[in-house]
Amino acid sequence: MNLNYEILPEDKIEYCRDLCNELMAFQKSKAYIKPELFDSMNFETRMIPSVKAALHNYIVVVKDDEEIVAYVYSNISPKETYSIDFATFFDLSTVNRKNVWCLSQFYIKDGYRQYGVGSKLFDMSMNWLSEFEDVEDYFIYVSNGNTNALDFYKRKGFKVSHDILDGFITVLRKSAMK
Ligand SMILES: CC(C)(COP(=O)(O)OP(=O)(O)OC[C@H]1O[C@@H](n2cnc3c(N)ncnc32)[C@H](O)[C@@H]1OP(=O)(O)O)[C@@H](O)C(=O)NCCC(=O)NCCS
Repeated sequence: MNLNYEILPEDKIEYCRDLCNELMAFQKSKAYIKPELFDSMNFETRMIPSVKAALHNYIVVVKDDEEIVAYVYSNISPKETYSIDFATFFDLSTVNRKNVWCLSQFYIKDGYRQYGVGSKLFDMSMNWLSEFEDVEDYFIYVSNGNTNALDFYKRKGFKVSHDILDGFITVLRKSAMK
């Protein structure tokens, strides 16, 4: 393995297309509640609109030589972004500030997991977030059946807040307030 970590500019998000689509298929394979909801989720419907709607985006890809083997995408968005037709992700009144941070997409290709790549990408995302002092509420959404990811985020200090969409998604939350 010859791994390189690169921050991806927004105009290069196309490079995440294949891994984003793999992530959606992976999540569908794990889900036992409403797995069919993933059928309409892909790079075009999830990543592009999310990047456009956010105020700030942070995307890191990991390359093994020239192949992209992992990526993480986090963003800062107005809290209202999370009250849409699809779902209300959290009670907006519990967020005092205007904007929230969300770890939106995270995928390490099979064969590259358990080597610390995810932890490094996670730490890079949290370091980037620390530049925004006016953001105090951090969210991660994990689809049902993905207990491995759920446990990973818990070990990183996030706590389960609640479930939405009849258990389709578990909302994890952390506050900047120590
Ligand atoms: C969840 C995910 C991002 C974690 O990434 P990862 O690269 O496997 O994570 P890490 O290797 O950093 O850490 C996982 C565990 O591996 C072990 N590990 C970490 N570094 C290690 C190393 N150098 N050598 C051996 N084991 C190691 C540790 O047990 C670690 O547990 P810890 O969190 O208590 O430290 C990854 O499994 C993944 O992409 N899964 C599929 C997609 C997915 O579920 N995405 C999340 C959607 S919400």
